[in-house]
Amino acid sequence: EHIKLTVEDLEKGPYDHFMLKEIFEQPDVFRRIIEARMDEKGKVRFPEMEMSNDVLGRVGRILITSAGTSWHAGLVGKLYFEKFARIATDVDLSSEFRYRNPIAEGDTMVIGISQSGETADTLAGILEAKSKFCRVLSFVNRVDSTIARDSDAFINLMAGPEIGVASTKAYTAQLLNMLFFSLYMSGIRWITQKEEREAIFEEIRKLPVKIESILARAEEIRHWAREYIGARDFIFLGRYYNHPTALEGALKLKEISYIHASGYAGGEFKHGPIALIDENIPVVCIAPKTEVYDKMVSNIQEVKARKGKILAICTEGDTMVPDLADHYFHIPAAPDFLTPLLTVIPLQLLAYYAAIERGCEPDQPRNLAKSVTVE
Ligand code: G6P
Repeated sequence: EHIKLTVEDLEKGPYDHFMLKEIFEQPDVFRRIIEARMDEKGKVRFPEMEMSNDVLGRVGRILITSAGTSWHAGLVGKLYFEKFARIATDVDLSSEFRYRNPIAEGDTMVIGISQSGETADTLAGILEAKSKFCRVLSFVNRVDSTIARDSDAFINLMAGPEIGVASTKAYTAQLLNMLFFSLYMSGIRWITQKEEREAIFEEIRKLPVKIESILARAEEIRHWAREYIGARDFIFLGRYYNHPTALEGALKLKEISYIHASGYAGGEFKHGPIALIDENIPVVCIAPKTEVYDKMVSNIQEVKARKGKILAICTEGDTMVPDLADHYFHIPAAPDFLTPLLTVIPLQLLAYYAAIERGCEPDQPRNLAKSVTVE
């Protein structure tokens, strides 16, 4: 008997769904971006970005506007722009930015982040910014999109076409491109020395192999999904670079498995979510070895004291968190600012496998659209 193969089946290759395929594409996406963004002399390049160093050098403030997963990327971008380029940065939801008459003057640059380049609220925000004579730069995965066209300049995310409704590889591509852009800006502004940037590049070059080592252990995450298939709610906790990871992990889970989930900054745990903790609630604690590691350990102890189930993401070699946790998944060691590029990957897998275990269709979650072109 003939097996019918559709174009879609061929595009998915060995994967059951686009979402899984796109999660597994991340090492190659990273290789592509790294090769495109770093030249032989160790300088960052953005050939498609039509904005002069003169203009970029005069930027005194950045306002980021974006929605959904791209908003979470913006929260990480803020940390990069402030750390490496020393430019004060604010992040707004596009749907708030456009209606709140933001103060955006001469030296403010507005950055729109959008995988599709078509999100209506984000587009409206950048048009508003232009009407106020701000420079507008967008980070888009579709260079032929409306947002790319209507911005002064754009940066290509280079994630390749993303079909799955839940954004995965576009998110990590947003983070990586914003990191490179912050290093580019730091060069223009003489904030970091060449040697310092070289050391950072060395660490960035190690990312694809680190992501591969995470993906090779996807089955471990599948076990988590199986065990907690019946949970009604999930909580995700993270701090600093991984506060956005907590928000993104929760969004991914609810989008495609329909399990209610909320992400919080670890420091906010005591201000409300702690009231929910009992033996039925899984708490995903994102606790890699970073500057805020001890604070995350305190959060884990708070969950444990109330008998919550602890699912921890921690750094390879750590023994304290695995001792406290009900389950742990380790990521390879990396500098603090690179951890969000790694910690989010097991959370993408958790959402995917939770959907599969619950019989949901991950590529076509109910009520959601890939690009939201209505207001
Ligand atoms: C929709 C998609 C999300 C995406 C958001 C923003 O809600 O389902 O995956 O993060 O729009 O889209 P954008 O294309 O602007 O990044």
